[in-house]
Amino acid sequence: MTLDVTAIREQEFPWAARGEAVFLDHASTGPLPERTRRMIAEHGLKRAEPFRLRADDFFPVLDRARERAAALISARPESIALATNTSHGVNIAARTLPYGAGDVVLSTQGEFPANVYPWIAATRARGAEFRMLPLAGYLPDEEAMLRAIETDPRIKGVAVSWVSYWSGHRFDLAALGAACRARGIWLFVDAIQGIGAVELDVTRANVDVLSCGAQKWLLSPWGTGFVYVRPDLIQALEPAEVGWMAQPANADLTSLLEYDPKWHDDARRFEVVTLDFVHFAAMAESVGLFLEVGPDVAAAQVRALADRAVAFTQAHPAIELVTPADPNRRAGVIALKPPDVAAASERLKGARIFHSVREGCVRLAPHFYNTLDEMDRSLELVAGGR
Ligand SMILES: Cc1ncc(COP(=O)(O)O)c(C=O)c1O
Repeated sequence: MTLDVTAIREQEFPWAARGEAVFLDHASTGPLPERTRRMIAEHGLKRAEPFRLRADDFFPVLDRARERAAALISARPESIALATNTSHGVNIAARTLPYGAGDVVLSTQGEFPANVYPWIAATRARGAEFRMLPLAGYLPDEEAMLRAIETDPRIKGVAVSWVSYWSGHRFDLAALGAACRARGIWLFVDAIQGIGAVELDVTRANVDVLSCGAQKWLLSPWGTGFVYVRPDLIQALEPAEVGWMAQPANADLTSLLEYDPKWHDDARRFEVVTLDFVHFAAMAESVGLFLEVGPDVAAAQVRALADRAVAFTQAHPAIELVTPADPNRRAGVIALKPPDVAAASERLKGARIFHSVREGCVRLAPHFYNTLDEMDRSLELVAGGR
């Protein structure tokens, strides 16, 4: 399928079609497509007057959200637990995956704090070590990580962001996953900066647990996201934080007093209900848009936009490209270091080009509905043009 950017903008992002803003800040907070906005309005109205809610507005909504999230990453819905943010999934991993006193959970410097603090807390509680390898320049040192996995028997788990929130570096998950699997080491991935911008087949990547907030690249409301748990691992993991619907015993809401702490066989054992039905209905709409467009088609456009930035820096050596040039090692986050970052950011702001400054870099994070022209204009401004 080919992507009709003009039609998508008109239907789903009319403010972009009107040229109100150039939004290149999907690594912060993604906009909501029109279909999602409509869902929030319709479902929200019923929520305000709950006598209008029907059975389909409750748990079937969560089923739909799980099914679509699963389809997006080539998983089965049984492997998906809905979550209110990425951190919820990091905590599930840190508190339920197997490791003990003296063991090491390996990570890297440069991680977003959501993938750091839960590990510090959980490893401390178990007498284990959370080890962050030094960066090689700006980027995670993948070779050092693979070497450590092969040589240090204390390492029991690896926890990384698939895509770095600031450098845009994308881990080679296939290589990392294979190395971990060969040594019986589990792999946790924070995928919030990747899914939506790049295709992912989570099974092929040998990931054990993955967490993804949907508020950025999945163009969904705050408070939505999901966690994937490898099917044959689910039943080995005891939920640390336990919801009242993590058990099949409570499926019948008219009879809740037969307490039976037998968890769901599927990943719902990790859900902490009540979840926000309005916003998960909205997330299902947004993820549905990706499934309609095609995750591969969306990813190809993101890549084309990022390629533009890479080519631009090759022609403008004064602008340092912090993100890897190799398209297989980046996603939608492009980090640039012009000589004067603050001035470049001011020029972008002046042109209503929404972006971020992170760790001393201008961060441009375009999505599949952005145009090459928007990207080119932004790059010219980073370089000093008007
Ligand atoms: C890599 C990464 N992980 C996690 C988060 C956010 O975590 P949460 O969804 O728990 O707010 C962000 C950005 O805010 C991020 O860039």
